[in-house]
Amino acid sequence: MILFKKSSLLAGYLQKARNKGKSIGFVPTMGALHPGHISLVETSTRDNPLTVVSIFVNPTQFNDKKDFEKYPVTIEKDIELLVASGTEIVFLPDVGEVYPGGYDTYLPPYNLGYLETVLEGKYRPGHFQGVCRVMNRLLDIVQPNNLYMGQKDYQQCMVVQRLLNILHSTALLLPCPILREKDGLAMSSRNTRLGIAERKKAPAIFLTLNHIKKNIQPGGLSGLLDECTALLTANDFRVDYVSIADAQTLEPVTHWNGTRELVALIAAFQDEVRLIDNLLLNKYYRPGSSLDTNHG
Ligand code: PAJ
Repeated sequence: MILFKKSSLLAGYLQKARNKGKSIGFVPTMGALHPGHISLVETSTRDNPLTVVSIFVNPTQFNDKKDFEKYPVTIEKDIELLVASGTEIVFLPDVGEVYPGGYDTYLPPYNLGYLETVLEGKYRPGHFQGVCRVMNRLLDIVQPNNLYMGQKDYQQCMVVQRLLNILHSTALLLPCPILREKDGLAMSSRNTRLGIAERKKAPAIFLTLNHIKKNIQPGGLSGLLDECTALLTANDFRVDYVSIADAQTLEPVTHWNGTRELVALIAAFQDEVRLIDNLLLNKYYRPGSSLDTNHG
């Protein structure tokens, strides 16, 4: 494994690989790695002769300063996991390397349209602009052929696809399935911040998503959504949103025609830890797409 801290050195190394015709897979992360991250690395390693994993806790995407300060940092363990997974290249830049002009400077916003006004966009103002800012920079440096990101952050995948379109990038975004703990809790770096009691209640999010999947019927959905909020609050969750939305556009669906492809999405706090999860409700596997559908 080679570890790069300087973007110019990494870019030079990757250019040589590109000249030899090697395709480059890229897995951007913020570290505190868990098997969910490693599954992306394994998919990339299977598909590409060269895989780059970046670890950078991006300050511009944290709308909540406390969340940024408490974001777990476990670099040594991360490196061990990456070595064990056979990762070739790790990129570990510091803030000055990613944002040479400083990150407080004003930049014209990315036009994310409707996507920025709903769900994570609505509840975490500025978050997706920060994600685009760091992804734009990382894509410029790595120039990957294939980009591996998790369905766990469903809306982030849509935002990054939009960014790729805005940039006229030729990188192919490949969304990968959500890895879960045995009790259904979606793996997340933030799970380590849950206390013992909170950790026990946390799988209620996945149970609620499955409740939707099992019980959804064509017609009005408000009753089902109310049941979900009740399930979550009974487990001491503070709910930001429970949404049933069009899987392609994320438009909320209040009345289902029985055929439109849907995704259910939840964001809720257990104590001060904010968890998100989602489940595709009726979208079927298509060759070329690795989004998961069968978790219920
Ligand atoms: P981070 O939260 O570290 O996640 C890195 C990648 O791992 C994302 O694509 C995320 O969707 C994926 N991932 C997280 N949990 C997963 C799980 N349980 N199963 C499968 N994949 C999972 O997402 C970010 O970092 C940042 O926003 C980033 C894109 C790196 C930009 O800073």
